[in-house]
Amino acid sequence: MAESLTTEELQHNAHLRRDIEEQITRRFAAEDEVLRATLKAQTDAGLPQIQISPIQGRLLQVLIAANNAKKILEIGALGGYSGTWLARALPAAGKLITLEISAKHAETVRAAFARAGLSDRTEVRVGSASELLPTLQSEAPFDLFFIDADKVSYPIYLDWAIKLARPGSIIVADNNIRFGKPFQEPPPDADNAGIAAYNQRAASDPRLRSILLPMDDDGMDGFAVSVVLS
Ligand code: DHB
Ligand code: MG
Repeated sequence: MAESLTTEELQHNAHLRRDIEEQITRRFAAEDEVLRATLKAQTDAGLPQIQISPIQGRLLQVLIAANNAKKILEIGALGGYSGTWLARALPAAGKLITLEISAKHAETVRAAFARAGLSDRTEVRVGSASELLPTLQSEAPFDLFFIDADKVSYPIYLDWAIKLARPGSIIVADNNIRFGKPFQEPPPDADNAGIAAYNQRAASDPRLRSILLPMDDDGMDGFAVSVVLS
């Protein structure tokens, strides 16, 4: 129990947690030159360094293998880092569609996919996800969804993911723990209210079986993972 630990012990545990994360990353989720180049290009393009961690990238790949995903929909591309993890786990005939609101960022993402040799199985669509999602119905169902865009719209994105899913589809959303802010009542701002509504729905919708995984930012943030049951 935390209250019985000395400051020294707490510090030791913090170091140990970091070491363990580094060991897991090195052994299971090491970045290669391509992923590092994607991050450098993201920085050079002036995009924020808010991509998922390598461990999160690897978890996405594990989930892709678990449900034999061939069609993936990503909402929010950023610099193409998560998209590279996703697309690399697809079979050759698989397809990742990623939605990106910024035309400029979309070019960075396309360049990243080209550099990674993934242009054949990826497509970047530019526009607001809320407007693009209704146009995807003819291409459904998707086997896996990765939501990592504006937090206010997370409940809308979850609605659409469920609509575009099949039984067995997996829906992953990033930043659903956010240092505990979505658990405050009421949540402190519109972004956290969006995440709170998503989490509430993920936890209680009878069509979903869900969990939150603290796995980034020293356990302070992480994924919501849901499996669509029916
Ligand atoms: C922010 C957004 C993200 O998707 C993330 O992973 C971290 C931070 C943000 O908007 O601050
Ligand atoms: Mg994120």
